[in-house]
Amino acid sequence: MLIMGIETSCDETAAGVVREGKEILSNVVASQVSIHKEFWGIVPEIASRKHIEVIIPVIRKALKDAQIKLTDLNGIGATYGPGLLGSLMVGLTVAKGIAYSLGLPFVGINHLKAHLYANFLQYPNLSFPLVGLIISGGHTELVYLSKDTKCKLLGTTRDDAVGEAFDKVARILKLSYPGGPAIEKIAQKGNPQMVDLPHLHFKKENFDFSFSGIKTAILYYVRELQKRKTPIPASDIAASFQLRVAEILSEKLFKAASLKKVKNIAIGGGVASNNFIREFMEKNAPPGIKIFFPSPELCTDNAAMVACLAYFKIKKGKTSPLSLEAQPGLSFPTSSSTTHSS
Ligand code: KG4
Ligand code: ZN
Repeated sequence: MLIMGIETSCDETAAGVVREGKEILSNVVASQVSIHKEFWGIVPEIASRKHIEVIIPVIRKALKDAQIKLTDLNGIGATYGPGLLGSLMVGLTVAKGIAYSLGLPFVGINHLKAHLYANFLQYPNLSFPLVGLIISGGHTELVYLSKDTKCKLLGTTRDDAVGEAFDKVARILKLSYPGGPAIEKIAQKGNPQMVDLPHLHFKKENFDFSFSGIKTAILYYVRELQKRKTPIPASDIAASFQLRVAEILSEKLFKAASLKKVKNIAIGGGVASNNFIREFMEKNAPPGIKIFFPSPELCTDNAAMVACLAYFKIKKGKTSPLSLEAQPGLSFPTSSSTTHSS
């Protein structure tokens, strides 16, 4: 089965073709990072206009790289949420158009769940049940995927997403955008014990996260040094920040794995490409727990992960109507709710 995935939820226009849910034939990503850089964040209107410009060439390239024709496809999946409304509409509308014109099965894909499914592209034997953690620029979601692959939300951030915190701290330290890779780079030379940053503890059974307190502590620390005309130890601050983030994420993650009695943990999203966090989690994982990370290019937004999840859905006959609309606020049902989500 050849499935095309289309992804335009944020600032990457992506299309890819995956065979049998695991073999990536093409994975084309046109990033807008250089355009949004000067604004230190994504400008929604610019993002959607750029998607319109490049979506067709990106799809053409995905077909060319995969050495197939549009008519060779057996199905198509596109991200329908969460994300920026104007951006989501571009990929979703094009995917529906292709599906309609060729009579192909179409399925709307939850971007966050797709981030976790990136792991199945590399580890086809990864099995359910599992605990998943999506750590990206807009999201920090701790989820439980039961044997039937239904996804339940265990915890989320109460303020900044973890990638957003990386971006904001990078800005305070006058590094580049996006902040994650810049922080990871300078942190290598820093002392992670140098700055004592807050570690907010919620109630024992709570799986929510908070990162804005750490960011604010760094902002005040830097301001104080500036007032005293003392040089800013950017590497030490970056290393201390990264360590605190790794500790906070790991604590909740391992607690959730123990509560749900799972052996497998799958991580996804741009922040999952951070080597320090990967190594910290692997080193501190309780015995018997295996942690899966996608390779760095499959951690950040891409369409192969969308095609992978679309394959699993289409194979089970779980397609979407062509009337499906973009859902910018799409999330996962919580353990106690019955709301539907993909
Ligand atoms: O998943 P993604 O590509 O897009 C969203 O869906 O948000 O994630 C982008 C986020 C940005 O905030 C970026 O700073 C962060 O992922 N990021 C990293 C690293 N690479 C990207 N954060 C920490 N370390 C990295 N190496
Ligand atoms: Zn993403």
